[in-house]
Amino acid sequence: MSKTRFPDGFLWGGALAANQCEGAWNFGGKGLSVADCAIYRSNMDPKDYKALHHITSEAIAAAEACTEVGPYSKRRGIDFYHRYREDLDLLAEMGFKVLRVSIQWTRIFPKGIETEPNEVGLAFYESLFTEMRARGIEPLVTLHHYEMPLYLVNHHDGWYRREVVDFFLRFTEAVFSRYKHLVTYWLSFNEIDSAFRHPFSTMGICEDRYPREKLEEVIWQGLHHQLVASALATKQLHAIIPGAQMGCMVTSLLSYPETCHPANCLKAMYDNRDNMTTSDVQVFGSYPPSALSAWKKRNIKVTMLPGDADILKANPVDFVSFSYYMSMVSSINAAEREKVGGNVTSGVKNPYLPVSDWGWQIDPTGLQIALVEMYDRYRKPLFIVENGLGARDKLVGGTVEDDYRVAYLDGHIRAIGDALDEGVDVMGYTAWGCIDSVSLSTSQMSKRYGFIYVDCDDEGQGTFDRYRKKSFGWYRDVIASNGAGL
Ligand code: BG6
Repeated sequence: MSKTRFPDGFLWGGALAANQCEGAWNFGGKGLSVADCAIYRSNMDPKDYKALHHITSEAIAAAEACTEVGPYSKRRGIDFYHRYREDLDLLAEMGFKVLRVSIQWTRIFPKGIETEPNEVGLAFYESLFTEMRARGIEPLVTLHHYEMPLYLVNHHDGWYRREVVDFFLRFTEAVFSRYKHLVTYWLSFNEIDSAFRHPFSTMGICEDRYPREKLEEVIWQGLHHQLVASALATKQLHAIIPGAQMGCMVTSLLSYPETCHPANCLKAMYDNRDNMTTSDVQVFGSYPPSALSAWKKRNIKVTMLPGDADILKANPVDFVSFSYYMSMVSSINAAEREKVGGNVTSGVKNPYLPVSDWGWQIDPTGLQIALVEMYDRYRKPLFIVENGLGARDKLVGGTVEDDYRVAYLDGHIRAIGDALDEGVDVMGYTAWGCIDSVSLSTSQMSKRYGFIYVDCDDEGQGTFDRYRKKSFGWYRDVIASNGAGL
């Protein structure tokens, strides 16, 4: 067995989002969230990410009126809410050091505006975190993972309105205070940069409620509010839980120039730079000049309160986390090129890369590049908090022979090792959807990422029993050897 390149204490584990796994959508006083409006459609085009995420006011009203699970499969999830002990036993059997989960705001403040937290919701997460710790699993907790209260969308314009910052801070104060002995690692907003790609799930902005020509400004305004909220939550966290750490969480959309034509290289450079706008703010504490100049050129006015600049400056994040699934291609001729899919974006096909069952380009080297670039830029510890392969698994004889998943993960984890060799500081790795869950973009169950198979189909039929896939034993060995066995 080769020598490990991973540091002692490396946080190996997996990641889940509450709205994609918990179910129990109307249990314990929980309010509706944006996730409860996401519909599963059997005839969807998985490459058309814009259509997958788009929602109208009419569709929101229909979701509110529906008192069943119906086509809203995230309401069902995988029933993690009731089965988490059994699930944690399986994750502990794999040797998990960390599990990333989120707290649904609507379990703690059902509408988002209440002054007192809901005890049933608080008690649920207290039990979840306690059970994790009892199994030696460190909680890594996301505060906002596409789960905004629907009430705030309908009555406060989502993150567009400033008062939502205060509602959010009431929520964060309640959870920091309650879980201060249980949780050290926190993430403020999941993929905060996705505001422009899917504004409803990210910030509760329903596009048909604003004039089309104002939409970009509305989204920037909402993003500014989230960035201020993230900075203030970081300040609050440090005051309430000394020693706790807050990370930002962004989508790595590393882009290669289609050719070495200087115009393509320039485009790739700009695309990569723009993808780091939000993490630049969260790490450096101010907007990059490129954002300010884009606002000027496009006549975008972002209202900032006196003191906002100081808040951003004084409260940078402690570490930088990101999701990485695929790399992209930048081309000045993108409109004429063959396209590939993605959950939050679609782009030009890279002829050198294989694709997943959903058309996502598989590129372990891209993860190494992303790690090196981010560390060179930020010099903060990095945490890969999402990475994985969505595939159509077949359960045969109580298991899944998912060698394709092992190959994907093996390649990406080796890439982390190569980045560590370059001096990059990586805190940990949480494989996405470590237990099969409902897909963010397509609301399917058949798009599976897990080491653990859940017997449930796209229509919600099945026993919901859990089965170990082949990758389960493989990942257990990777963790046991601290990466030396790869
Ligand atoms: C990330 C999200 O963008 O991608 C997750 O943070 C999501 O919530 C994951 O599940 C995979 O995407 P999808 O659409 O395949 O579920």
